[in-house]
Amino acid sequence: MKNMKSLKNRPIGIFDSGVGGLTVVKSVQKYLPREDIIYFGDTARVPYGNKSRSTVTRFSREIMDFMIKKRVKMVIVACNTASSFSLGALRKHYNIPVIGVISPGAREAVSLSLKKRIGVIGTNSTISSRAYEKEAAKTDPNAKLFSNACPLFVPLVENGFLSDPITLEVAKIYLKAFKAKNIDALILGCTHYPLLKKVIGKVMKDVELVDSSSSVAKEAKCVLLKKDLNSSRASRRGSLKCYVSDEAETFRRTAGLFLKKKIQVKKVALCPAVQ
Ligand code: DGL
Repeated sequence: MKNMKSLKNRPIGIFDSGVGGLTVVKSVQKYLPREDIIYFGDTARVPYGNKSRSTVTRFSREIMDFMIKKRVKMVIVACNTASSFSLGALRKHYNIPVIGVISPGAREAVSLSLKKRIGVIGTNSTISSRAYEKEAAKTDPNAKLFSNACPLFVPLVENGFLSDPITLEVAKIYLKAFKAKNIDALILGCTHYPLLKKVIGKVMKDVELVDSSSSVAKEAKCVLLKKDLNSSRASRRGSLKCYVSDEAETFRRTAGLFLKKKIQVKKVALCPAVQ
């Protein structure tokens, strides 16, 4: 009984290539407010979105090993690129629940789309993996997906151009192809894109924008309840501890602005994954 309780009160691990995964942290804090969170941002090696499957999987394994040392009860792979490329390998290798953002996002899009015509935007790696197409087909084999990589969105967000005219111009160019496709839902298939919701919404009027960060938080809640792993501490807010692979200050500043509070951030060195 005591063991079960201590298992339930272990933290949830959430990782991303950088600061973008904090969109998932925010959603997890909303849907699971009592859970402690350990966040890892691989700031020394971001971006993942233009790297190969084997490289992204190696990085993800190193972060998972770090999470295991931190005694997490579950890991959420907040990065769409890592979820697309590495989720299967991580699930095979580790003995705790590992949730990615692709399947919850794809499921939510299929349920929201009346026409079953859905757009997907993401990094080059996520789009080339066709992970969203594969997951959507599991829910509805007749759903039609149309995808487009938007590699400039990540540096625009990283540099704070969230609603500037330049971002709107870039969005118009990237999203033009969807106009003729008659879609009624668009999956924001990258950690950074929820921060561009306003701009994307201006270009894609009357299209449902599917933010995978909230769907993965809801999925995490279901998995914890199903496995009886949800925190048993009834009356306290969960904590957030962040770790990064590059210097902590930039992350601390950006994260503080985004989460609107001071956060603990520590730089750590990862150990190479044992193959
Ligand atoms: N976190 C990545 C994703 O969601 C975007 C940033 C990157 O390219 O590393 O795909």
